[in-house]
Amino acid sequence: MTSVTTETNVLQSLLDRIETRTAIVGVIGLGYVGLPLVLLFEECGFNVVGFDVEAAKTEALTRGESYIRHIGSDRVAKAFVGGKAKASCDFDRLAQCDAIIVCVPTPLGVHREPDLKYVRMTAEKISDVLRAGQLVVLESTTYPGTTREEMLTRFEAMGLTCGADFFLAFSPEREDPGNERFTTKNIPKVVGGIDAPSLRAASALYGAVVEQVVEVSSAEVAESAKLLENIFRAVNIALVNEMKVVFDRMGIDVWEVIEAAKTKPFGYMPFYPGPGLGGHCIPLDPFYLTWKAAEYGVWARFIELAGEVNTSMPRYVVQKTSDAINQRGKSIVGAKVLVLGLSYKPDIDDDRESPSFELIELLQERGAVVSYCDPFVPFAKKKRKHDIGLTSVPCSADEFGKYDAIVISTAHSAFKDPALFANAPLVIDTRNIVRGDAVVRA
Ligand SMILES: NC(=O)c1ccc[n+]([C@@H]2O[C@H](COP(=O)([O-])OP(=O)(O)OC[C@H]3O[C@@H](n4cnc5c(N)ncnc54)[C@H](O)[C@@H]3O)[C@@H](O)[C@H]2O)c1
Repeated sequence: MTSVTTETNVLQSLLDRIETRTAIVGVIGLGYVGLPLVLLFEECGFNVVGFDVEAAKTEALTRGESYIRHIGSDRVAKAFVGGKAKASCDFDRLAQCDAIIVCVPTPLGVHREPDLKYVRMTAEKISDVLRAGQLVVLESTTYPGTTREEMLTRFEAMGLTCGADFFLAFSPEREDPGNERFTTKNIPKVVGGIDAPSLRAASALYGAVVEQVVEVSSAEVAESAKLLENIFRAVNIALVNEMKVVFDRMGIDVWEVIEAAKTKPFGYMPFYPGPGLGGHCIPLDPFYLTWKAAEYGVWARFIELAGEVNTSMPRYVVQKTSDAINQRGKSIVGAKVLVLGLSYKPDIDDDRESPSFELIELLQERGAVVSYCDPFVPFAKKKRKHDIGLTSVPCSADEFGKYDAIVISTAHSAFKDPALFANAPLVIDTRNIVRGDAVVRA
């Protein structure tokens, strides 16, 4: 009886602190997911501490400067200079936080296996300070079981009991950077707890800042829901990429086919082909599930097939480019080729896993002299897999007229002006944004 009362008191006290906005919220990992969360909690009246290992990031935030283009410095300054948000590299300060939200990277290793080192390092840091009354929520995308296997075991090894002393949950992030219609506040938030008290605590925390919380029965269901969402996209993009190759051979424009198909008011959802997959999620997350599924002796064949089709796209585009240059009586060897767009989607500055890097390297391998233009990415920073060492050329018709071929990889609004291509002898368009005799779709 005494123990039940104590458990209830610990949970109730946390719920009260959340309700009265006296709870201090810590967010670990101040990237595309973590920074908007810090801002949201601050804007909803909480004291927030954002933690990152990169001092340059915490220092910029402390000065009121944003390092993510679609998150304005005005909003950052309001929260970090004029408001109740702080940024820090001192992880001992986690001890002050009532709720800790983890948004660190979950990349793939060189053999396309899950790389959980950032999650593990973070779990260790939290273990060092974990105390009664704290709620921890993992938001990083990962395979089902991670919250229990990587966090719960470490935390309980400190002698505390989940659901009684502390609370632990998983809640996937559904951030769509740059999307003005759907933001952290109005995207429904799925939450799954390790146990019922943890679900209650996490649900209350997010309920204080987002419009809709969707409670599920376990952390594993919440982890799996995120993977299903991303696998759904990866598989459908692969399907439409395959359709592109098939219809192209038949002389049929896949883009016109999609426009026609999407007039069906039910049972169809349009996906669009492209030069390959990009971004932190769709090219990587599905393989978290294939890896974990193998442990159970099951093979996620759709995921592997989608990966195979999608990763073949940059080679397909380069082959089409090479053929088109050839048909104009030139050789890809020594051809001047301009790739348009380094970021992986329109009008943002996020170039992680962008297929443009592979396009550039494959064109270079074939002997082309490659430049790129991207108003959002003035110079190409070194990546885990790529180091192209280029800077963006100007976005102008004069500049575009200097190349033997232009390959459109990203549909930035700035590239949609037909006048830009007036002097271009050959345009390979993977995004269906320009028309004309010089245009070849790929
Ligand atoms: N970007 C998206 O649109 C998106 C959407 C949904 C889910 N996710 C998932 O959210 C997670 C974070 O993604 P992101 O896009 O914000 O990544 P990001 O690379 O933009 O940010 C991660 C941040 O974590 C910091 N970091 C790395 N190791 C750390 C550590 N040990 N302790 C503290 N900070 C550390 C990095 O310096 C960086 O600032 C990933 O699991 C990702 O799959 C991302």
